Amino acid sequence: METRIEKITGNRAEDRKIIEEAAEIIKAGGLVAIPTETVYGLAGSALMAESARKIYEAKGRPSDNPLIVHISKPEEAENIAYTSDIYYRLAERFMPGPLTVILPKKDCVPDSVTGGLDTVAVRCPKNPVARAIIKASGHPLAAPSANTSGMPSPTEAEHVYHDMKGKIPLIIDGGKCSIGVESTVVKPVDGGVMILRPGRISVSMLKSVVDRVEVAKAVTDPEIAEGQKAESPGMKYRHYSPKADIILIDSGHDRFVSYVCENIKKGEGALITTEYLGKIRDLPEGCVIFDAGGTKLASERNRRIFSILRRADDLGLRRLYIQLPPSGGQFLALYNRVIRAAGGKIIKI
Ligand code: TXA
Ligand code: MG
Repeated sequence: METRIEKITGNRAEDRKIIEEAAEIIKAGGLVAIPTETVYGLAGSALMAESARKIYEAKGRPSDNPLIVHISKPEEAENIAYTSDIYYRLAERFMPGPLTVILPKKDCVPDSVTGGLDTVAVRCPKNPVARAIIKASGHPLAAPSANTSGMPSPTEAEHVYHDMKGKIPLIIDGGKCSIGVESTVVKPVDGGVMILRPGRISVSMLKSVVDRVEVAKAVTDPEIAEGQKAESPGMKYRHYSPKADIILIDSGHDRFVSYVCENIKKGEGALITTEYLGKIRDLPEGCVIFDAGGTKLASERNRRIFSILRRADDLGLRRLYIQLPPSGGQFLALYNRVIRAAGGKIIKI
C-alpha cells in the first residue's frame, strides 16, 4: 500500500479537502494517522471491530492493550460510555485537552476496541484538525499513538511515516505536536481519580478539580513483574524504546556527567534530563550529547523526549546513557517514560 502524507497548510479550502478525504477513509473502515496536541494518533472508527483489528495489526500491538476513543465534544462521551458527575467536572476544566478518562463502556463499542474490558478510555483532543476529522467522519475515533508497538511515540509526521510506511494510506501532517507526551490517563475512584499514565495534566492540576488524586503504583515502579495486575494494561509492556541499549542512571547531575565522561565510547550517546549546568569534557570523538534540559520548563523537556529517543536511532547509537529525572510535579511524565524506555533497569551510583 502506498502511504501519502498530506500537509495542513492553513488554506481553508485545501485543508477541508484533506479532512474530508481522511473522513471518507475512516467511514469505509480504513486508518489515517492524525495529529493531536500530544502525539500523532493512528485513527479508525471506534464503532467498527474491523478498524480496531487493522490498528492492532499496523502497530504490531498486543490486542489486550485497549485503545483510547476520541470525541469532538465532551458530551459525545454519552454515545459510548456511562458518564458521571466527576467526568463532567474534569471535562469542564480539561477538555478539549490532554486528559483521558476511563468510564464504563456502552455496548456499541466493540470488545476489540477495549481489549475485552468493560470500560472505555475517552479523550477529547484540543488539536482542531483532529476534532475536524472526528466531526467529518461522524464516528468516535479509536486512536493509539501512531508508532510501531514498543517504539517511542511519534511527535512529527516523519516519525509516523518511518513506522507506518506501506501499512496505512494517509498521514495528515499537522506539524510538530505541541505537548509531545501522551495524555494523562485517569480512572475515577471514590472521591477522586487515580492516574494510570502521567502526562501534561499533573497531580496538582487535577487537585484543583477533585479532592483526591492517587498515582497508580505502576507509574513509578521500574519493574512491573510479569503477570502483575496493571491498572492500565499498557503499563505492563516495555515502551518508548529506541534500538539503543539504555542505561538509566540514578545520581546527582555532576556524578551523571562524570560517569558519562568516564564510560561513554564512540557510537554512544547520553541524554541529560535536568537542567544542564556543567560542561561535559574530554568526550571521545563520535559520541553524542542530547540535552533535554536546556530549559527550566519540565513541559519543554517532556516535549523533546520522544524525538530525542528517535534521533538516537537515526544516528545508529548502540548505547544511550540517560539521567533519571526527578519524579515530582511536572517531571512525573518524563520519569515514567524514561523508566519504561529502559525496561525498568536503573543503575544507582
Ligand atoms: O495522547 C494520547 O492519549 C494519544 C493520542 C493519539 O490521543 N493516544 C495514546 O494511545 O497514547 P495509546 O493507545 O498509545 O495509549 C493508551 C493507554 C494505554 O496505556 C492503555 O492501556 C490505556 O491507555 N487504556 C486504554 N483503555 C483503557 C481502559 N479501558 N482501562 C485502562 N487503561 C486503558
Ligand atoms: Mg502508545
